[in-house]
Amino acid sequence: MSIDPILFPTDFLWGASTSAYQVEGAWNEDGKGPSVQDARTHVPEGTTDFTVAADHYHRYAEDVAMMADIGLKAYRFSIAWTRILPEGDGAENPAGIAFYHRLIDELLAHDIVPIVTMFHFDLPQALAERGGWANPATVDAFVRFGDILFREYGSKVTYWLTINEQNMMIQHGRMLGTTTLEGDAAQVDLFAQNHAMFLAQARVMARCHELLPQAKIGPAPNIAYVYPESCRPEDVLTADTWNAIRNWLYTDLAVRGTYNNVAWSYLERKGWAPSVTDEDLAVLASGKPDFVAFNYYATQTVAAPSGDESDLRRRGEDQQMVRGEVGLYKAVDNPNLPKNAFGWEIDPVGFRMTFRALWDRYGLPLLVTENGLGARDTLGDDGMVHDDYRIDYLQRHIEQIRLAVGDGVGVLGYCPWSAIDLISTHQGFAKRYGFIHVDRDEFDLKSLARSRKASSYWYAQVIESRGASLDA
Ligand code: BG6
Repeated sequence: MSIDPILFPTDFLWGASTSAYQVEGAWNEDGKGPSVQDARTHVPEGTTDFTVAADHYHRYAEDVAMMADIGLKAYRFSIAWTRILPEGDGAENPAGIAFYHRLIDELLAHDIVPIVTMFHFDLPQALAERGGWANPATVDAFVRFGDILFREYGSKVTYWLTINEQNMMIQHGRMLGTTTLEGDAAQVDLFAQNHAMFLAQARVMARCHELLPQAKIGPAPNIAYVYPESCRPEDVLTADTWNAIRNWLYTDLAVRGTYNNVAWSYLERKGWAPSVTDEDLAVLASGKPDFVAFNYYATQTVAAPSGDESDLRRRGEDQQMVRGEVGLYKAVDNPNLPKNAFGWEIDPVGFRMTFRALWDRYGLPLLVTENGLGARDTLGDDGMVHDDYRIDYLQRHIEQIRLAVGDGVGVLGYCPWSAIDLISTHQGFAKRYGFIHVDRDEFDLKSLARSRKASSYWYAQVIESRGASLDA
């Protein structure tokens, strides 16, 4: 007797993702103001800047047509705050507003659902110079920016994401280019910024529901479920602690409107706790998400701390590499997991675990807004990228989504990173993720021509067959 494979729902949002500063280019065109990414002086040596990127700003129509060829049902992209409000606040920029109308209209014309991230690492530089998120005026500016987006695009966009990877901006902000602060003293400022972002997010979620009753909005943190190195109770407890501080702090605030108790006591112990007023608590309670979106690349593994420098990872620091913190948790490599070319562990089973954990905690539908494999792709003699390694990665992860659905988890969709080759946060253009290849190198812009990779044909079949092709 053969058993029918579980098919994904017909309205499953099969998509792919990008972010504005990593894909658009046109960094100073049509009235756009500079963001902290444009002002970045510490893009690592040997990697490109963000001025041209994949030139999506000029080639969006061609890109959307290719997404439609692949059969994408959704496209998750971010709106550059500095195209809408070049100074972050102040005058609106009609040309920037018009660009996203054109992009969204193009998507809708191809039956592709737009999923809009409101803020993805690109704070307006003008606001950064006035204290960034630590200045309450930035929260007001973000709420106003949100109101403009809802006014302009609310009749066309159902799915909204507030802030991309707030947790990574706090934990790895220097590497991501979202902060220039460093050292212990910076932590007080960073957690004040963190609190401000929670307030901004809650206010925007409340405004969204008020202005657009049909819309759905949620946060988009980076979740790396944390494993203990062993079943030693101290290791298990440490994993629980790091889960609370790295992951649940952010999702608990977004969904429940309260600080996670383990994370809060850590912040108090360190002297990094922000001041929280009764008014803040009311604001946090007033904004609720309709779903939880999350970016998943890998799990992390930790052990009980030794209390000295041996708790720290010796080389590399990155949003996916477990770093360790003296006296809090020891960073450990998971010997059961392979790594990609950039040292990131690959853990499809951890993906299912992450779905279960988030569903258990909140019971809200889940939307995957990133997952994917960064690799140094090369064009074959036939002019195509034969990215079998990416197909293998995606296949293993999508299988785990299907298993999570079988576990009873509600999943809205899957938007891997990335729709098209773009610039990595800190490892340049050579670290590619796209379904669509872009003909450029790190510094040589070449033709910027687009071509589909083998993975895009494979993904097209998965989408078309609602996952049945995974079993072929
Ligand atoms: C996520 C970010 O952290 O991971 C993306 O939201 C980023 O902006 C992606 O590009 C992949 O990371 P990286 O560092 O390889 O670009």
